[in-house]
Amino acid sequence: MTDIYSNAQSAADYIRTATDLKPHIGIILGSGLGNFANHVRGATRIPYPEIPHFPRSTVEGHSGHLVLGTIAGVPVAVMQGRVHAYEGYPLSEVTFPTRVLGLIGCKTLIVTNAAGGINPSYAQGSLIAISDHINLTGTNAALGPNEPRFAALPGAGQRFFDMSTAYSPRLRALAIEEATRQGFQLREGVYLAVLGPSFETPAEIRAFRTLGADLVGMSTVHETIVARHMGLEVLGISLVTNPAAGVVAAGHEAAEAIHHEDVMEVGRRAEKQFTSLLTALVPQIAAQP
Ligand code: HPA
Repeated sequence: MTDIYSNAQSAADYIRTATDLKPHIGIILGSGLGNFANHVRGATRIPYPEIPHFPRSTVEGHSGHLVLGTIAGVPVAVMQGRVHAYEGYPLSEVTFPTRVLGLIGCKTLIVTNAAGGINPSYAQGSLIAISDHINLTGTNAALGPNEPRFAALPGAGQRFFDMSTAYSPRLRALAIEEATRQGFQLREGVYLAVLGPSFETPAEIRAFRTLGADLVGMSTVHETIVARHMGLEVLGISLVTNPAAGVVAAGHEAAEAIHHEDVMEVGRRAEKQFTSLLTALVPQIAAQP
């Protein structure tokens, strides 16, 4: 059996040889949001293939660099690009970088994604704070032997771990307050994860709405699960890139087909708001106990 913990240690050791920076916050950038990494100061950019055991991303718009530096003076580690289960990676690889973020000292994970809006009142291009998730991918990233050495805090690293506040209410409140300060409303929503890569059918989306989901996407839940296993505090932000299948967006007559190019384009347009929100939040998160 491969020893994920010692592989993650090798990756962490490699990163420590590339920079003295000790990141407090790990940030995973979703589709179309990768440009945020270009705002990191004093950046050391490490291509994923250079880091031992790191997976390489294959999706357009996920360029695959770990960027270490500062945002508003706070040391951060930013993943510009992630890999997804739909690319064929086992979840141990999908979540490997999150494990490494924990080992290099991050105590907070900001996980971001592009998502379809199931909630019909979500405008395309809006940012939503994830309040909770529904994992319908059919599997769980903590599957397999438990590895308590991944604990980033005393008491973490347990076989069974609580997910009742997986997305930190404290961090969400900070994000909502900061958005209000910046003049926009950051709403909250439940993120439902599917395996993909096909987008959903309208019948699936109707079913997901009945289940209580506001957003649908193909990432995030696995990273959140391992982050919680390690004891990291998690903030999740979704960018609504399109109305989910069959959802008629406000101001439109009928539902439209979903295209990956549109997902990327909406990301580019939302970049400014996303960047100013995150840049203001990072020092607030770092300042709080
Ligand atoms: N469904 C699933 N994943 C997505 C979507 C969607 O509509 N939009 C962006 N990522």
